[in-house]
Amino acid sequence: VKGSIGSSFLWGTGVGAYQHEGDNPESDWTDFGRPPAGNSAGFLHRFEEDLDRAASLGTNAFRFGMEWSRIEPRPGERSGEAVRHYDRLVNACLSRGLRPLVTLVQFSLPRWCGGWLRPETERALARHAAWVAEHFGDRVDLFVTLNEPNVAASAAHVGGLFPPGHHLRFSDGDRALLAQLRAHAACHRAIHDTFARVHPSRSPAVGVSMQLVAWHAGGWDPGGGVRSMSERFNWGFLDALADGRLRGARRTVHVPEALGSVDFLGINYFMGRKASWRGALEFAGLLGAHPAPCRSDLGWPIDPAGLELVLGEAHRRYGLPLLITENGVADANDAFRARFLEDHVAAMQRARDRGARVEGYFHWSLLDGFEWHEGYRGRFGLYDVDFVTQERTERPSADTYRRLVARARSVGETPRADNECQSLANATRGEVNDTHRTA
Ligand code: BGC
Repeated sequence: VKGSIGSSFLWGTGVGAYQHEGDNPESDWTDFGRPPAGNSAGFLHRFEEDLDRAASLGTNAFRFGMEWSRIEPRPGERSGEAVRHYDRLVNACLSRGLRPLVTLVQFSLPRWCGGWLRPETERALARHAAWVAEHFGDRVDLFVTLNEPNVAASAAHVGGLFPPGHHLRFSDGDRALLAQLRAHAACHRAIHDTFARVHPSRSPAVGVSMQLVAWHAGGWDPGGGVRSMSERFNWGFLDALADGRLRGARRTVHVPEALGSVDFLGINYFMGRKASWRGALEFAGLLGAHPAPCRSDLGWPIDPAGLELVLGEAHRRYGLPLLITENGVADANDAFRARFLEDHVAAMQRARDRGARVEGYFHWSLLDGFEWHEGYRGRFGLYDVDFVTQERTERPSADTYRRLVARARSVGETPRADNECQSLANATRGEVNDTHRTA
């Protein structure tokens, strides 16, 4: 089937390119990140042993990024060394029974492109996507074009957290989102056209990963402004894939080429939040998180039931196959990750029971890594990384995931757990019921 993921459920873990590889001299983050990413987890050189770890969890898929700025350090010039590296990485996945899911852009761009407000970035990425499809398409058939265009646009132009680090430039944020929408559509087409031409017997599935937050009513939001902003944050880009219209704060832009340019939706889910001014400012990084129970080390509110909510809503809106491309928690002491895993996998299962077409779950992350503006503060790994010695240590929750996956794969379904973190769960249940009534 054109663009289908296949019959077996994908259980995976993931790492980013810029975040975990280390040694990325040509990225726009190289000069921007404070602290600099440096060697990070050193995945660039340690990928063989790390893939052994991923395989030891019993998973059958692995998500990783190919760092565009490494492959194409100067416009139109490809690095043979980088290409050989990614050849080895892809082959190492396949030899361990891990189906590769390749992300083309996870925030970091080659520094020569100059960001999403330059039109050349869109065209250059589409050319790059065609080349990736041609070169790796004999072995890779699952692609995420862009990781979280909604976060990339707002963190760069509103929250000041990503390059170029601007604050409150809402219209630039809208333009960056529009540029990414066009770029995604162009990549989708480029990958499909290239497969048809070069690998005609194979059919790729091309998606985009969006960060979806379970926004809950409540808190101070006079006039419902935050509520509608948060709606647009979650669904604006995806709605445009369904109807070719990108709705911004002030105007709607027609983007006909976006219509239908997606085979699956990647969902990155980390938290629920109140759609209130406080919740929105905290989320945008403009206000510090206040510590509270049921929050991660980064202060992100843990809300497993919210995952069921967003999966149900994504299904209701689009009916497309869904892959959970990121779900995880910053928890250096591994105090609540095991519970987090069980509760979120159970929430996913409930959504599936109610019809959502979830076809894979990739835990984020296999390894601790560089967490963008948070530096090395958020530890998301099933494996702890010592960033000085590069030593890895398995956290106890890795074994929880191993057991969850083993149980699911042995019975051919996803497992259940019955109780969960109560932080926002009651509010969420209310909303789930509301969703049902209006659906
Ligand atoms: C990003 C990841 C990041 C994670 C945790 C997500 O928004 O896609 O790159 O590691 O958040 O910070």
